[in-house]
Amino acid sequence: MNNLRRFAGETACATTSLLAFAVLLLSACGTPHGQPQRTAETLAPNEVLEFGALFSANCAGCHGDNGQGGAAIALADPVYLAIADDQTIRNVIIRGVRGTAMPGFAESAGGLLTDKQIDVITQQIRARWSKPGILDNANPPGYTAKSAGDPQRGQAAYKTYCESCHGPDGHGGPKGSAITDDSFLALVSDQGLRTIIIAGRAELGAPDWRGNVRGKPMSDQEVTDVVAWLTSRRVEVPGQPYSATNYAQHQEPK
Ligand code: HEC
Ligand code: HEC
Repeated sequence: MNNLRRFAGETACATTSLLAFAVLLLSACGTPHGQPQRTAETLAPNEVLEFGALFSANCAGCHGDNGQGGAAIALADPVYLAIADDQTIRNVIIRGVRGTAMPGFAESAGGLLTDKQIDVITQQIRARWSKPGILDNANPPGYTAKSAGDPQRGQAAYKTYCESCHGPDGHGGPKGSAITDDSFLALVSDQGLRTIIIAGRAELGAPDWRGNVRGKPMSDQEVTDVVAWLTSRRVEVPGQPYSATNYAQHQEPK
């Protein structure tokens, strides 16, 4: 849950810095004639093509400064970049991930980034942060699930690969947080879970698919089944801590 709380805080920070950025741009519009030439700072938002500026204004609030250490998965993660191809990454940036905090950035999705800006972001994420050969010839599970998976087999695989850190039934343990919590499951997509299980979150100490049990990498099917078990734990109305009686006690007296 810490991550979610951190996430809310960082979203607020991102909004503040976006506002600051907008104010900066607006104040630059009034430059009188004869003043210094247009510089990078006075570019219109849709003309910015510098990766650092684009990433910090649009992505860093959730994915972290320099692509790691945020609430959302690190993009500066060579294992992630070895399993997700450019087309996949580009599509997520264009459309976002429905039902999660990942917004769509393309103008066609109501965002503010041009196709050219999205190309720069996609290309530079790989150019700066991938490490060819990082998988050392290991054959990772596919990025996309090939089937719906079996929750019962997934529960058994959970015990083998995850319980030592995330605790019995995913309720949290000494080395990993709760991952069957109703609010967590409501905010993460099935693919988001799959991505984290395969790529891990190295910056937080979460192992990739090879590292849960020493010498026993997870198979593609096991990853699919664990995701099926986790998503079978979603509830219809998440985030409702109060029973009906409790809730009544919290109402304003008439
Ligand atoms: C408001 C928070 C937020 C912002 C801003 C944001 N993201 Fe995300 N992003 C997320 C979350 C949360 C997910 C995981 C969604 C899920 O559950 O699948 C995500 C997922 C992704 C993924 C897919 C990971 C996978 O599973 O393959 C990519 C790629 C990505 N974001 C890139 C970006 C880029 C590039 C930017 C800036 C242009 C950006 N994001 C801005 C929150 C955000
Ligand atoms: C060696 C300990 C360890 C093992 C084994 C492990 N994890 Fe994790 N996992 C972590 C740590 C540490 C984090 C990051 C901090 C946190 O959220 O607990 C994490 C994060 C996660 C997250 C993201 C949680 C969030 O709040 O964003 C998911 C989902 C997850 N793990 C699923 C799994 C699954 C499923 C397995 C088994 C296939 C597994 N993990 C095995 C340690 C582990």
